[in-house]
Amino acid sequence: MNNKLIGGFFVAVAAFILMPASAWTQQTAPKPPLDLIQWNDGKLIYGVDYYPEHWDESQWAKDAEMMQAAGINFVRLAEFAWVKLETAEGRFDFAWLDRALKVLNGHGIRAVLGTPTASPPAWLMAKYPDIAATNEEGIRYRYGSRRNYCLHNPNFIAATRRIVTAMAEHYKNHPGVIGWQIDNELGDPPCYDAVCQAAFQKWCKAKYPSLEALNQAWGTIFWGHTYGAWSEIPLPWNTLFQVHSPSLALDYHRFFSDASRDYLKFQADILRAMTPDKSITHNEMGMFDQVDYSQMNTAIDFVSFDNYPMFNKDYASYFQAGLALDLMRGSKANQNFLIMEEQAGMPGWKSYWAGNAPVALYRVWAYQALAHGADGICYFRWRTSRYGTEQYWHGILDQDSYPNPRYATVARMGQEMPQVTAALRGSKVVSAVGLLVSPDSRWAFHIQPLVKNFDYDRQLRLYYAAFRRARMNVDVLFPSSDFSAYKIIVAPSLFVVDKALAAKLVTFVQEGGTLVLSYRSGVKDAHNVVTQQTLPGPFAELAGAAIHEYDPQVDQEQTVVGPGYSRFPAQVWFDVLEPTTAQVLATYGKGSYAGKAAATANTYGNGTVIYVGTESPSPVFYERLAARAAQAAKLRLAETLPEGVELAVRENGDKKIIFLLNYTENAHEVSLDQDYQNVLTGKTEPQKVVLGPFEVRVLTNPPPQGP
Ligand code: GLA
Ligand code: GLA
Repeated sequence: MNNKLIGGFFVAVAAFILMPASAWTQQTAPKPPLDLIQWNDGKLIYGVDYYPEHWDESQWAKDAEMMQAAGINFVRLAEFAWVKLETAEGRFDFAWLDRALKVLNGHGIRAVLGTPTASPPAWLMAKYPDIAATNEEGIRYRYGSRRNYCLHNPNFIAATRRIVTAMAEHYKNHPGVIGWQIDNELGDPPCYDAVCQAAFQKWCKAKYPSLEALNQAWGTIFWGHTYGAWSEIPLPWNTLFQVHSPSLALDYHRFFSDASRDYLKFQADILRAMTPDKSITHNEMGMFDQVDYSQMNTAIDFVSFDNYPMFNKDYASYFQAGLALDLMRGSKANQNFLIMEEQAGMPGWKSYWAGNAPVALYRVWAYQALAHGADGICYFRWRTSRYGTEQYWHGILDQDSYPNPRYATVARMGQEMPQVTAALRGSKVVSAVGLLVSPDSRWAFHIQPLVKNFDYDRQLRLYYAAFRRARMNVDVLFPSSDFSAYKIIVAPSLFVVDKALAAKLVTFVQEGGTLVLSYRSGVKDAHNVVTQQTLPGPFAELAGAAIHEYDPQVDQEQTVVGPGYSRFPAQVWFDVLEPTTAQVLATYGKGSYAGKAAATANTYGNGTVIYVGTESPSPVFYERLAARAAQAAKLRLAETLPEGVELAVRENGDKKIIFLLNYTENAHEVSLDQDYQNVLTGKTEPQKVVLGPFEVRVLTNPPPQGP
């Protein structure tokens, strides 16, 4: 770093410290749940991500015509166009975007504008090099790519305020702009510069009543790391052996997640104050876990998801995609959401990331998103780029604009949207089963992975798929969610538990709920410090079992006998359970603890707690557990679906909208409980539905018979 940079740097730190708190805490409340169909003039959003700035203006009219012909009624624009909107500091040019909007609006297409902060212009980074983020080694990233900024940098905050204010001012009365997408996929990179260190120390000071309390909570006496001043607190940057206090590291995760939310809220506050009739969203990444979406999404009006199911490589990848959709819905109180980027072609950056999918599958994936509570689909992107990093990332059209098979598929679905809109209006996903995702536990496992083959998300998928195969909708819950509507809550490896969450789960069980916990639950308190209680700590009484012996398995396999008297392979971790009041569901099959309990069920209050001390790669193991949980919860599981077929339901009062989705090239038969009406054809379907290859069937209850 040269002297000029160091000078600028200290000014920046001082400016941050002096920044009035009001800059972050302006109070504007998010609006009540937005009806997305209503918002888009009564039409289900069917859109594309469009980059008019990438193409010659002479192409725009033809593009808009082709969009309209395919049933497109929505575009997202401008989220990477900062340099074209603010060409030099404080010099704005909206004329090109106005012209693009005029062309699109003229074809019945309405827009959401992206605030372009995910890609700061070169002139800004050259003038304020301290905006760039700093990595764990203390090295500032150099210019290039995107998302390269420090969330706490005062120069970046000032530049953000300027561009967002200018866009809001220019478009506040524009009838063709219905809302805003803030930034693009917030959540990285974490930054380790001095501004962030000062901000983290400030965050700690606000959280802990005193430095003594922080030292106690983190157990800093370990290796004598006790802090004598707030300014001594480091960030979890790379240090010798790269091992930091897990407590400090967990608080840094929370701090970074809070900072992402505060930055989102900072922009949302400007937009809300200036354009109160436009709605605000942010496009997110489903299972991405560097931020807590349930906290982040308190800042926005509705959630958007960038849905790329082609990345999933799991054996039941359509359930993997479904889980991400359900997590996005669950991150904001189960409100319907928008797909802001739906896969429309092969992915790739430096090289191709996946082979091409059968073209019909793009339509199945889009319907899957609707089935899981999306009230709109916007494809990424209208046309594959000629330039830059994403030349291999395919949109609907290729560079030649020929109406190719992907365009035909999108257009086919576009023709179906009026009937689908009528069927879906006012409907929601309703689930009896909740899957609890704990951001604290996920982060704690990043900090200290149990064993090399441990994967928190894999357990989510295993339990999720078991219920979904039995045709149960599943909601994803966060610690702040309302648990009261659920019959079953599955909380795999609930490692870090604060008192409030433990109490909420006790109440849930006492009032009749069925709780499924798995290995390494109740191990740590809210500070990522190990409990002094016998494991599973706050859940020992609920589970009616104690754990005095456990075995992390790096390479060995175990077997588990039961549930249902089968033998299943087991791996990753073995909690040896000693029932106090619980009944044994399964035992270990090998080794020194053969015959001891591997899974138990306990009655507590009016409810039941199932504790599963291990993990199995066998889906059948989870089907048996799901069946046991359903029995305890007095829920009837339906006949297992054929492999490759999904069934998902939305409800509106007594009306059900059933989606049958075939992800395979083979036909499959699915038996339903009654006759339903086909939403697309209006015809009555027999109870035994035959789904052709890659077929989608949207069904609803027959209309009431006449008197
Ligand atoms: C070494 C050190 C101890 C402890 C153990 C276990 O022996 O001297 O302080 O760290 O390893 O890690
Ligand atoms: C993300 C981004 C898009 C684009 C796509 C494809 O979802 O939001 O801008 O980069 O990935 O890479």
